[in-house]
Amino acid sequence: MARFHTLPVAAVDRLTDDSVALTLTVPPELREEYRHAPGQHLALRRRVDGAEIRRTYSICSPAPAPDAEGPRALRVGVRLVEGGAFSAYALKEINVGDELEVMTPAGRFTLDPAPGLYAAIVGGSGITPVLSIVATLLAREPQARFCLVRSDRTSASTMFLEEVADLKDRYPERLQLVTVLSREEQQAGLPSGRLDQERLTGLLPALLPVERVAGWFLCGPFGLVQGAERALRKLGVARTRIHEEIFHVDTVAPTAGTPAPAHSTVTARLDGRGGSWPVQDGESLLETVLRNRPDAPYACKGGVCGTCRAFLVSGEVRMDRNFALEPEETEEGYVLACQSHPVTEKVELDFDR
Ligand code: FES
Repeated sequence: MARFHTLPVAAVDRLTDDSVALTLTVPPELREEYRHAPGQHLALRRRVDGAEIRRTYSICSPAPAPDAEGPRALRVGVRLVEGGAFSAYALKEINVGDELEVMTPAGRFTLDPAPGLYAAIVGGSGITPVLSIVATLLAREPQARFCLVRSDRTSASTMFLEEVADLKDRYPERLQLVTVLSREEQQAGLPSGRLDQERLTGLLPALLPVERVAGWFLCGPFGLVQGAERALRKLGVARTRIHEEIFHVDTVAPTAGTPAPAHSTVTARLDGRGGSWPVQDGESLLETVLRNRPDAPYACKGGVCGTCRAFLVSGEVRMDRNFALEPEETEEGYVLACQSHPVTEKVELDFDR
């Protein structure tokens, strides 16, 4: 069950003009709670003018081995988002020694280290969770190899440039690194320009044996992830081998759907306790649950992070949008509570499943 704790900031490292890495110290008694898988994220929260804001940031530090102690520190990457209430604060105001409210790790964009060939296509800050995935995999699994295709605008705007170069130095044989810069000339022979579906369809088979890749990790802006997924599908890669995490989705108007019944009730189970509450006009099921159970898990409220995932035990819902759940998860019956509206008069959700 997701919980918040206050963690001190141990370091603030500037990565580029518009991004920092924050290192948080985890005290011994909380290390088990903050044990994470490579690729997971942390939600940070703060109150501004009486309103609570939460943002999720991916952990870039390697994950601890299952038989080792939980992490002593967690490092996350934060890039400034235009008008971003949390990222502007992180870049300009957070100092060493400050305390932050940090949720325990969540997210299913993860890799369980195993022998084999893996690959990632990332854009911009999408490198953050993949840095943890690559570092954890190569350190823990000597029979694993990784191909990382990353794109950014310029080398000056590229996050974790040094960290990725260090990994390449440490694992020259097992890490293949391809960097594509869209707004900068590179040395002859290296690709430049945007990474879109067409370019990836041509580039990937020249880089690696596409059919032998055990898992693909796509992370970054919606357009890049969508283009990469289409390219992979065109190259015959099964959807089950593709893992996606989208950063930054432009706000879109909710899709008009079946109108909600006049009086619907949501029953929810959360942290072992249940309750039933009426859904107010137009609100999402997460809002209904939150009015009665402020401990309900969420971070983005935008259908992107997946923190509000719940199992739909009975009834029917309509989701406005979903950028977080894999097709298998929706088929199994999982929904995003922050995007769900009741279609039937009674809806039952289980957040513990
Ligand atoms: S809170 Fe992020 S997807 Fe619902």
